[in-house]
Amino acid sequence: MKTDIGRCGQTEGNKHSNSSPHVYIENISQYEGQSVTLKGWLYNKRTGGKLVFIQLRDGTGIIQCVVFKPDVTDEIFKSAELLNQESSLIVTGIVKKDKRSPIGYEIGVSDLKILQLVENYPITPKEHGINFLMQHRHLWLRSSNQHAILRIRHELIKACRAFFDQHGFTLLDAPIFTPSACEGTTTLFATEYFGDKAYLTQSGQLYMEAGAMAFGKVYCFGPTFRAEKSKTRRHLTEFWMIEPEVAYACIEDIYDLAEEFICFIVKQVLSNKRDELVSLGRDIKLLECVVPPFPRISYSEALELLEKSGYSIEWGNDLGGDDETVLSNMFKKPILIHHYPAKCKAFYMKEDPKQPGQALCVDILAPEGYGEIIGGGQREENPDILEAKIKQHNLPLDSFQWYLDLRRFGSVPHAGFGMGIERALAWICGIKHVRETIPFPRMLYKIYP
Ligand code: 4AD
Ligand code: MG
Repeated sequence: MKTDIGRCGQTEGNKHSNSSPHVYIENISQYEGQSVTLKGWLYNKRTGGKLVFIQLRDGTGIIQCVVFKPDVTDEIFKSAELLNQESSLIVTGIVKKDKRSPIGYEIGVSDLKILQLVENYPITPKEHGINFLMQHRHLWLRSSNQHAILRIRHELIKACRAFFDQHGFTLLDAPIFTPSACEGTTTLFATEYFGDKAYLTQSGQLYMEAGAMAFGKVYCFGPTFRAEKSKTRRHLTEFWMIEPEVAYACIEDIYDLAEEFICFIVKQVLSNKRDELVSLGRDIKLLECVVPPFPRISYSEALELLEKSGYSIEWGNDLGGDDETVLSNMFKKPILIHHYPAKCKAFYMKEDPKQPGQALCVDILAPEGYGEIIGGGQREENPDILEAKIKQHNLPLDSFQWYLDLRRFGSVPHAGFGMGIERALAWICGIKHVRETIPFPRMLYKIYP
């Protein structure tokens, strides 16, 4: 998009002419020497004698606009001097090459129109505490780091979709209201549903299994909900998950698919959002290491590695966040951990017939201490075993009749995985906490704004 999509706020002078078209800062290099109009907000300002330097942001970039007193009317110069942080304004001027500018250009201002003069914008260039920033998340999004993270998020989501689209998967949207639990009953959000109870979905997986039997290879991408009672840097109550599911696939197929997928998305973000990663201070070299093959270790081998580092876990217990941190600090690349004890995992997991008590499952831990970003596995395809598992987990059989139908009518081995976008993004961006990886995070006791 080179020019404006709307006419809002056009100055009188160029309302009906193309002499100074509205352009976006990211396209500014195409307009060298021309007069253009920019519409945005004041990011920062400096004044000095006959000059006012306006850092203007328009959502696509930041550019310096230089107001030189002899070039404009007194009225315009005075209004430029008055401008404060986040005032909305429309600037017209000539695009000039400038070696000192981070984007290579600046604007020599000829006209300026203020839409709103702002006073006391709460987020100033000084340091603010995280609680203050979270309370002002709706404004914090305008800051350069948050902006970079969310542009990378967009790229990451595009990459996730592109991968599955290019591999013959059909996108199948999973429902948000569900009659039953997928990932355990302790983290369900319940809601009233016409006199009945419904739950916000924890995962689209069960529906993707129906989809795989209909389309062969499917994926869903959407919000998922977990009433996580713990406050950690990895947990949100609302997060976005991409979940592929494949018919006639076994667990090894999922190891390969997930590995190829992670390499693809990291590569695409590196190619298309390198500047944003650099602006966040991300060590690009570490991301460039993300190429196949990834180390593949069993849960039991993971326990041995932990033992050597002084963390002893009894076989049968799940790995906790701290254990994942230790393990994922040991490797340069993401690692696959397979064959967890079946009792740590969800009801639908198939047990390895060769190693009873162990699930045909895989968790992928991102390196640098980030921990689990992917959970997946092969699903139980036998209707009798599955029914027994549902009962064993104290789940209501009635709500799972449709799910059992998938095993009654043309059951086949099948497998899939889910990746949380926010966890993957935190790792890719190199930021500690998932709260900055989603526009409006939802966490324990946190729902404002
Ligand atoms: O390991 P989980 O619970 O697996 C499932 O939901 C499967 N049904 C997926 C499947 O096989 N289709 O969750 C998958 C991923 C985790 O690895 C993590 O990235 C993310 O979802 N995740 C969370 N992200 C943020 N906050 C939370 N509370 C999360 N819980 C899981
Ligand atoms: Mg998991």
